[in-house]
Amino acid sequence: MLLGKTRILVLVSTWCLLPLGRGELLAPNALNLRLTTNLTHEISPTIYGYMWEDINHSGDGGLYGELLQNRAFQAVLPGTQNALNSWQPFNGARLSVTSKTSGVSSSLPNSLEVTIPKVVAGPIGFDNTGFWGIKIQEGWTYKGSLYAKSDTFSGAITVSLKSVRGTTFASKSLTGVSKNWKKFTFELEPTASANDDNNIFNVVVDGKAAAGKVIHFGMFSLFPPTFRGRENGMRIDLAEALAATQPSIWRFPGGNNLEGMSFDTRWKWNETIGRLEDRPGRTADWGYSNTDGLGLLEYLNWAEDLGAEPILGVWDGISIANYSDLSTWPVVPEAELQPYIDDVLNEIEFIIGDAKTTKWGKVRASLGREEPYALKFIEIGNEDQFQPASYAAYRWKAFVTAIGAKYPQMEFIATSLPSTALDPAYKKIDFHMYNSPSWFTTNAFMFDDYPRNGTQFFVGEYAVTSTNDANALGDIPSGRLAYPTLQGAAAEAAFMTGMERNSDVVFASAYAPSLQHIRSYQWTPDILTYDASRLVKSTSYYVQQMFSVNRGTHVLATSPSSTPDTAPLFWVASFNNETDIIFLKVSNTGTSDLVANIFLDFPITGFGTATSISSPALSPISGLFNVSNTLEEPELIIPVANSFAIPQPDRFNYTFPATSVTVITLQSPGFGNSDSQQFGSRSLFWV
Ligand code: AHR
Repeated sequence: MLLGKTRILVLVSTWCLLPLGRGELLAPNALNLRLTTNLTHEISPTIYGYMWEDINHSGDGGLYGELLQNRAFQAVLPGTQNALNSWQPFNGARLSVTSKTSGVSSSLPNSLEVTIPKVVAGPIGFDNTGFWGIKIQEGWTYKGSLYAKSDTFSGAITVSLKSVRGTTFASKSLTGVSKNWKKFTFELEPTASANDDNNIFNVVVDGKAAAGKVIHFGMFSLFPPTFRGRENGMRIDLAEALAATQPSIWRFPGGNNLEGMSFDTRWKWNETIGRLEDRPGRTADWGYSNTDGLGLLEYLNWAEDLGAEPILGVWDGISIANYSDLSTWPVVPEAELQPYIDDVLNEIEFIIGDAKTTKWGKVRASLGREEPYALKFIEIGNEDQFQPASYAAYRWKAFVTAIGAKYPQMEFIATSLPSTALDPAYKKIDFHMYNSPSWFTTNAFMFDDYPRNGTQFFVGEYAVTSTNDANALGDIPSGRLAYPTLQGAAAEAAFMTGMERNSDVVFASAYAPSLQHIRSYQWTPDILTYDASRLVKSTSYYVQQMFSVNRGTHVLATSPSSTPDTAPLFWVASFNNETDIIFLKVSNTGTSDLVANIFLDFPITGFGTATSISSPALSPISGLFNVSNTLEEPELIIPVANSFAIPQPDRFNYTFPATSVTVITLQSPGFGNSDSQQFGSRSLFWV
């Protein structure tokens, strides 16, 4: 029999043996928590997702499937050792990067000049060492290409996948080198898997045939199988891991990497499209060149593959010359802004313009994509709170006015301090939060008081970055996290309960940054860490996944609500009106297990499921909350799912382990018809 609301209230008051203390819940106190049938508001369908930029080799050497580093000698100075990054001679060949001979295209003027000594025996050439190694997998087909030319050599070129110790896993011979650039394509199919990543892509010619000759090579490429088999696509394990979290927002292309260190090195959308030979690459913001192989179309296709809404960051007239000295940042004067505004208008036309009637829509169609992409969110700049005067004076207004006039359907996101007055007034604001666990738990309720005045918040970058409350972006010795920790993930989850509970005003969030190559990175912690073959999913990854895949359509009121007084338990309840599932997401950021007596105002099926991450079972009791998954111990903390019987129709107890994040799932086929409800099965009752 269903228990009505009145009856449950009586039960709650008699069960309430230990009243909640003001300030926090202390074990062995039990929280009495009633899940009502009151749906307070809809949950924004874009609530969870990621911010993306190429940092930590997240793109080149990460998600972008290309295996060869410095494949086309982009954004390097010819003649320098640095230009040879990731290339090494094999058997005594002399290598240099040159622009003295024409390159494979006007966008790629640099090529590799290989000089073969006059006296040489056996194969001679060079290797690419990949992104700190190459994964070689039996059964995979590696698709490769390179350009070559020589005035004097016309013999065969042999390309191979080899271990550094000399084992050859796959090999192909290419013939037809001539005086003019020629593109060679090939496939390599390893006959065995390599034991480790210490492998190279090796290119050789016969020493005798090539003695004393010079050969030029340009624009190499080597791809393993990619996510969904897309050409020029994504590394499968990373793509699958991100896709498994079902993000609904993909904010790109930065971040600082949008801005450039100068106007000229800003992320230029039109240099990231078309043939790879037509993409010059760039000197990017995070200390390494970008190939831009992962370009605008690849990002848009990827967002579609994820089912995520793109949030397009557009360059708005600032660059970052020196991060720590704001006065050095170049800002485009108002009178010189128009060409950059026109550039953004072209970019948007490229994305959504008609394929037959617009100039840039036609270009898109010529690149294989007839149908316009879905785009509705445009973010004007990135972190413009660092240059607020020009943003408020003219930059915001100039971009919003021009884009809005041509594309009135667009929704604009401002990037200044929320308190900055903008004209026109912003309706959506992105503000970033990198801080300590205690900052996130303390601020988990910040949106409860957010003004309901029509503006909405985008937490466009956030993560627990440090245990140091005074300096959350310092170095590792001062508390910066190397990897996300369980403690940090629980604090993020506490904050996320606040975002979800207030998702009438928090329309989206984006964890950042997302990926980290363990051999070369600029920012910690990151949600996924990897090398050439391994991958570790962090505690923060699992929290993102647990919150994102378990989505309600509406917030469900609880009694009591999660408040600072009920810390260290933080929660949000929701109902999905398509599946009749109720979700209760709970973070226990404390160091003791806490029990909740959970009462239900609606019928359920007699069992529930709980997915939880908590500290490793066999760890010692003390000091186990700063634990992380690492490449060496990737599965120390993983979600555990349990089903449990709920014998009583209207209540159950649940123990939330110390420092844990839990999602409880209940099925309520009769939710909409509950006897406490005055509305039809799909209508809402607004509290
Ligand atoms: O996520 C790393 C950097 O942090 C982003 O590039 C920038 O927007 C923020 O300051």
